[in-house]
Amino acid sequence: MPDLPDAPRINPSILAADFVNMQADLARIATADFAHVDVMDNHFVPNLTFGPQMVQRIQETSPIPLDVHLMITDPDRWAPGYAELGAASVTFHLEAATDPVALARRLRSIGARAGVAIKPGTAGDSLYDILDEFDQILVMTVEPGFGGQGFMSETMPKLRALADEASRRGSGIWLQVDGGISDATIEQAARAGADTFVAGSAVYGHDDVEAAVTRLRSLARAGSLEK
Ligand code: DX5
Ligand code: ZN
Repeated sequence: MPDLPDAPRINPSILAADFVNMQADLARIATADFAHVDVMDNHFVPNLTFGPQMVQRIQETSPIPLDVHLMITDPDRWAPGYAELGAASVTFHLEAATDPVALARRLRSIGARAGVAIKPGTAGDSLYDILDEFDQILVMTVEPGFGGQGFMSETMPKLRALADEASRRGSGIWLQVDGGISDATIEQAARAGADTFVAGSAVYGHDDVEAAVTRLRSLARAGSLEK
């Protein structure tokens, strides 16, 4: 595996990119850490994006590695394919998986970082006993399905408890947040223990995407110093 970027990591979500100018919009995030790729199946969430064929081309085109977020039913069946096409990390939803531990092991065996995501209503302690099986946890800070929603600060106690549990166990697991991350909210997520930040509209909503990434990174750094 290539060298991994240090925290705080900023992962722009290409859900907010221009889908017919994807190559150009990928080039615009070259200074960010990972391109966050939201796969939605219109079943696990009420929205539809793209599948493996499109993600394969994104993988071949992106200047930075891919962080794939699967909002799909039956990840046990479909997630390994995204690892096989070369995604750096593949995150599936705990609520959708039949055997999360077996799936995490399979993803790792293919060479991807294994990630598990939980929706705002899902308790964090359901992950405590399986933390070691994962490289990253994604605490959703909106209901999954759409970009541009408001940040749910009520998810912060759960994030903080997960961060405490991970440090108690000496785990190097990454803690990611996704949904409503912006200049106004990123510091509180960093204070609660997040080290990896997905941002869609707060990156692509600006003409100067590179400056938006730099600003988010420095705000996250400031927040993490106040932990
Ligand atoms: C939502 C997706 C997010 C989305 C975030 O279900 O998982 O990755 O793109 O968009 P913003 O940053 O605009 O809330
Ligand atoms: Zn996402």
